Amino acid sequence: MSMEAFKKAAARRAADMVQSGMVVGLGTGSTAKYMIERLGERITEGLEIMGIPTSEDSAEKAQKAGIPLTDFATHRRLDIAIDGADEVERGTLNLIKGLGGALTREKIVAQAAKRFVVIVDASKPVDHLGERAPVPVEVLSFGWECTADRLASYGARGVKPRTDRDGSLFVSDSGNMILDCHFGPIMDPAALSAKIDGTAGVVAHGIFLNMATEVLVATEQEIERWEL
Ligand code: A5P
Repeated sequence: MSMEAFKKAAARRAADMVQSGMVVGLGTGSTAKYMIERLGERITEGLEIMGIPTSEDSAEKAQKAGIPLTDFATHRRLDIAIDGADEVERGTLNLIKGLGGALTREKIVAQAAKRFVVIVDASKPVDHLGERAPVPVEVLSFGWECTADRLASYGARGVKPRTDRDGSLFVSDSGNMILDCHFGPIMDPAALSAKIDGTAGVVAHGIFLNMATEVLVATEQEIERWEL
């Protein structure tokens, strides 16, 4: 099976957990898009749900799929949120998210959800967060140079603003910059998370601790379901 097929398998399995009447957090990225498509199919078969998207991109995909959207003004609590991840730490279900740039909205949506189901292919599990992925940190543009210095003082290498493929500055849906911070394997993610959260200029970062309630990992043999 190709990596795309793995992503699709995990995404469809998660979409099939959704039941009528639920308010659903709709993740962002190349795995989450298959979940949105599957929910769209199920809506044509009679499923009745409302979605809160984690990005403008997912909002557009949800609208195309026919998923009615709502917002936090109307629904403060979500029954379930389903999203991809860039790394999943074996044993803890802690995550790095945000290589797609939607980390702040993704964190708000995950935090508001009773159940947060993470869908990944077999390339995403790691022994320690940071092994492969940088930690994306969304920052205000004001004073970003000082914020970057501060993040570097925590051990991040090569801290620089994310750019798009054409070299222009990446701007998040909320109008902020993202600094990708390469820490290497993170031995104490709680301590690092607290330090980054306590840094002036930081809006949110991509370390998601104790948020995932279950992770679906699509492997060659099966879809593994990890829970704590
Ligand atoms: C978006 O900001 C991210 O958090 C994605 O959920 C994450 O990057 C996983 O994306 P893929 O499913 O495309 O790998």
